[in-house]
Amino acid sequence: MSNSGSLIQDYINMPLNELMERADTACRKVYGSAVFIRGLLEVTNYCTMNCAYCGIRRDNAKLLRYRMSNEEILQTIKQGLHRGIKSFVLQGGVDPEFQGSKLIALADDIRNSFGSDFALTFSFGVLSYDTYRALFAAGVNRYLLRFETADATLHEALKGTELSERIRAFMHLKEIGYEAGTGFMTGLPGDSLSSNLELLASLEPDMIGIGPFIPHPETPLKHASCQGLEPTLRAVAISRLLFPYANIPATTAAGTIEQNGRELALSAGANVVMPNIGTKAYKQLYELYPGKICVSEDGFSCINCLSVRIRSVNKNLDYRRGNSRGRV
Ligand code: 5AD
Ligand code: FES
Repeated sequence: MSNSGSLIQDYINMPLNELMERADTACRKVYGSAVFIRGLLEVTNYCTMNCAYCGIRRDNAKLLRYRMSNEEILQTIKQGLHRGIKSFVLQGGVDPEFQGSKLIALADDIRNSFGSDFALTFSFGVLSYDTYRALFAAGVNRYLLRFETADATLHEALKGTELSERIRAFMHLKEIGYEAGTGFMTGLPGDSLSSNLELLASLEPDMIGIGPFIPHPETPLKHASCQGLEPTLRAVAISRLLFPYANIPATTAAGTIEQNGRELALSAGANVVMPNIGTKAYKQLYELYPGKICVSEDGFSCINCLSVRIRSVNKNLDYRRGNSRGRV
């Protein structure tokens, strides 16, 4: 077993409260009480992929599909900037309308309209090396690409694509110079937390997204059991201990399976929140998993709610762009 392998095993065997306390201390050492805010825009729920766990998979014919126009996207970012947000995340399904030259034009539009005084993160799945490079040149600073599961066989069975392809894409992002994020779901049927953490450790990400798998009724995994929040809290805490400088969000999925799930993640070493700043109608339709929270709140009303929740764990909402401290 590698060094990080045996370290991970030690952490996995530790009582959860002890692990969380250690991670909280490590997080506060680097970030103090700051919890960075990212304004999330879910810009399209069209998806050509058919991942077995995901509610917006291609074969879910019950889902009404939407795409935000570039104008709507610019308008939403403008509102976010007015409220002081300095970091935006644009995420979508794998949609031909958000690939290649169209995606590059969107990045150009955003930077030409609003300048470069804020961080811009994209998350649109595996794209070509050239597209990643052109997006970076157009001012996209960060990219999120979760590997979802480190088990190559399970990965291919669930996603229909190869794990190695996704890892290669992630390495491209790092090579180009992005702050690169990855992560996984906890509790996928047959998955192993230690393998996921070992792959995560080997990828040395700047950002780490981890949330619980929640079975969606319109997917092949509808009868799978839900493992609850604990494995996510454990994984968040271990990620923080492995990577003291990483940006780690308290995910919406964590807040969905437990009422105070995000607060618990923030007590386990998470230092980022990502409220969706889009309209209610779109929020509801971006249904990766059932029961998603905040869908009846309009875009920005979550922010007040979040700042109260964050204070309840002795942290403070912070509007700075929050670069990964591992970098200058
Ligand atoms: N439950 C929890 N998380 C999910 N995701 C997709 N489907 C589900 C689900 N059923 C996660 C994936 C993806 C992120 C945007 O949402 O990890 O990368
Ligand atoms: Fe693959 Fe949605 S269908 S992430």
